[in-house]
Amino acid sequence: MDWFNRNQRSLPWRMNPSPWSILLSEILLQQTQMERGIEYHKRLYERFPTPSSMASSDVDDVLFLWQGAGYYSRARRLHALSQIVVADYGGKIPSTYDELLALPGIGPYTAAAVASMAFFHPVACVDGNVRRVMARQTNNEFPSVKDVQEYADLNLVREHPGDWNQAMMELGALVCRPRKPTCDVCPVRDTCKGMLRANELPRPRKQKKTTIELQCVLKVDAQGLPELIQRPDSGLFAGLWGPRIEEELDSKGLEYLGCIKHILSHRTMNVHVWKDVCEQGIDPNIVALSTLDRRILSLGGVFLNVPTE
Ligand code: ADE
Repeated sequence: MDWFNRNQRSLPWRMNPSPWSILLSEILLQQTQMERGIEYHKRLYERFPTPSSMASSDVDDVLFLWQGAGYYSRARRLHALSQIVVADYGGKIPSTYDELLALPGIGPYTAAAVASMAFFHPVACVDGNVRRVMARQTNNEFPSVKDVQEYADLNLVREHPGDWNQAMMELGALVCRPRKPTCDVCPVRDTCKGMLRANELPRPRKQKKTTIELQCVLKVDAQGLPELIQRPDSGLFAGLWGPRIEEELDSKGLEYLGCIKHILSHRTMNVHVWKDVCEQGIDPNIVALSTLDRRILSLGGVFLNVPTE
C-alpha cells in the first residue's frame, strides 16, 4: 500500500472518482490497453457524464465514440446498462457486488472493481495482473481461477479494498510485468517464492489462433462515397457500418486492391479487397466504423476525416 501511494499512475478516474467514471474505465480496460483506455475514457466521459445522459442517447452515438476501441459489444452492453441504471436505480450506479454483477457487460472482475473502488466494499479483484503476481509470489505455474480468488480474498486489505485492489493491479502493470519484471525494485520481493524464475510464471495458457479468409467488394460512387451496410446486432462488429464482407464471392473482372491482414486477439482475418462502382454511396464519416472497415476504405482511396493508424 505504501508503494502504491508513492507510485500509482495519475489516471483520470483516480483523480476524480465517481462510480460512473470508474465503471466506464473498468469496462474499457477489460480489453483495451491503458493508454488507449485513457483516451476513450476521456471522450466517452465528456460526452456521457452520467448514466442518464447515455441512456437517453441512441446506441449508435455510443458506438460512434467507441470506434477503434474494439470489442464493440461492450459499447452495446454499456448502453443497455445505462438504461437499466436509470429504470431500476434512479440513475445511480448500484453499490453491491451482486447488483453490479447482474448488469449487462459486468462480470465478476468488474463487479468487484466497481464495488471496491467506488463504494469501498471489501471484495477482491482477480484479473491477469493479480494472477501473475500470485503465480510468482507463490511459485505456482498454473494457478486455477479458484486458487487466485482464494489468494486475493485472503490478502485483501479490508479497510482499503479499492486501493488494495488497484495496488495489486498496479504492481502487476508496473513492476511484476509479464516480461522483464523489475524484481530489484519490487516492494514485495521478500515474500516472493518465484522470483528466480519470474519470467516463466505463470505458464501461458495455450490458445490457438485461427485465420479466416474473407472477401470484400468495395463499391464506390462517382463522388468517392462507398456503399456501406450496417452489420447485424450480434456477432463481430455488431451494429457498426462497413462494406459488405463475405466468405465467398464472384470477383470476376473486378480490380484487385490487395489483402488486409487484420489481427484480433482471438483470430486473424485476411480480407481480400476488390473494387467496383455503385450508384450512390454514403458518407463514411458520420457512421461508426471498425478499424478493419477503415483500413478497407483507405485501401480503396476513400477519404476519411480521421485517418486509420
Ligand atoms: N486495470 C484495470 N483497472 C485498473 C485499475 N483500476 N488500476 C490499474 N490497472 C487496472
